[in-house]
Amino acid sequence: MKASATATARSNIALVKYWGKRDAVLNLPATGSISVTLDRLTTRTTVAFDDALEADEIVLDGAPAVAAGGERVVRFLDLVRQVSGRPVHAVVRSENDFPTGAGLASSASGFAALALACDAALGLGLEPAALSALARRGSGSAARSLFGGFVEMHAGEAADGSDAFAEPLAAATHLPLRILVAITASGSKPVGSTEGMRRTAATSPYYEAWVAATQRDLDAMRSAIRDADIGRVGALAEGNCLRMHAAMLGADPPLLYWHPATLEVMHCVWDLRSQGVPAWFTIDAGPQVKVLCAPGNAAAVRERLAGLPGTREVLEAAPGPGAGLAEGAVA
Ligand code: PMV
Repeated sequence: MKASATATARSNIALVKYWGKRDAVLNLPATGSISVTLDRLTTRTTVAFDDALEADEIVLDGAPAVAAGGERVVRFLDLVRQVSGRPVHAVVRSENDFPTGAGLASSASGFAALALACDAALGLGLEPAALSALARRGSGSAARSLFGGFVEMHAGEAADGSDAFAEPLAAATHLPLRILVAITASGSKPVGSTEGMRRTAATSPYYEAWVAATQRDLDAMRSAIRDADIGRVGALAEGNCLRMHAAMLGADPPLLYWHPATLEVMHCVWDLRSQGVPAWFTIDAGPQVKVLCAPGNAAAVRERLAGLPGTREVLEAAPGPGAGLAEGAVA
């Protein structure tokens, strides 16, 4: 049997973040999260299942995948084989349209594209919620990148994770927004998200407070998005991000993902706000800063960020579409 499909998916930025698991094996989040899918930072993945293969072959950005990246993909394919009952190996070719090693997360777009491509190639016909739950097994944030616009991931309560999936909250056009990504450093992060979450939950005295605050932030963010109120969305996103990093700082050993250039961007955003330019930042498990603002302020914000000595590049994104199959992609 030979079956292949090609899918694309884009990165997403969490406005209310996920940091902590209720089950590490099934990759179940301790809390829900809310994100916006971007219109760029795209992964394009082709998966080709073939009975003649004796092992999986993973090619990332044109090169055979090294250790961790490749193993995660093989583990995901193992899961697909289990779910589909088809013990067949595959060649996976995945390409990012953004520089690898630039410190931009690729697991969200990568596992969303891979989940959709596997579903199409094997004709699994998974419903959106089940497909999202499958992508979650690759990476929690990937569950959200299947959908466009503003998306909510549910923590769920079921032990088997069947209710831990994402679903759309509002269309990409619902709230006009720009996301400026200030790239301050390259290279992979010192502590990956899985170990970082484990360590924070196990050792930070602020972890329980972070979980409790996130429940409140989810309710507030849902209503701010519903009202298309960028001021409330931005302020909530910035506060939620700072609370997540406070919980990380309280871990033992501590987790500090910021560089001096990261702080430079944060102060610049506060400075812009004090001068009457509404902009808010959010930061994930790395040194890059994502700055949210209205489309009309994007040029001014971009110019200020680009002028900072520690900022290497500024990428501009808007809310974008969900994952999709490339045309003529299923064979
Ligand atoms: O899904 P992961 O393992 O890439 O973890 C995502 C963690 C954060 O980016 C920090 C927050 C989030 O919700 O995306």
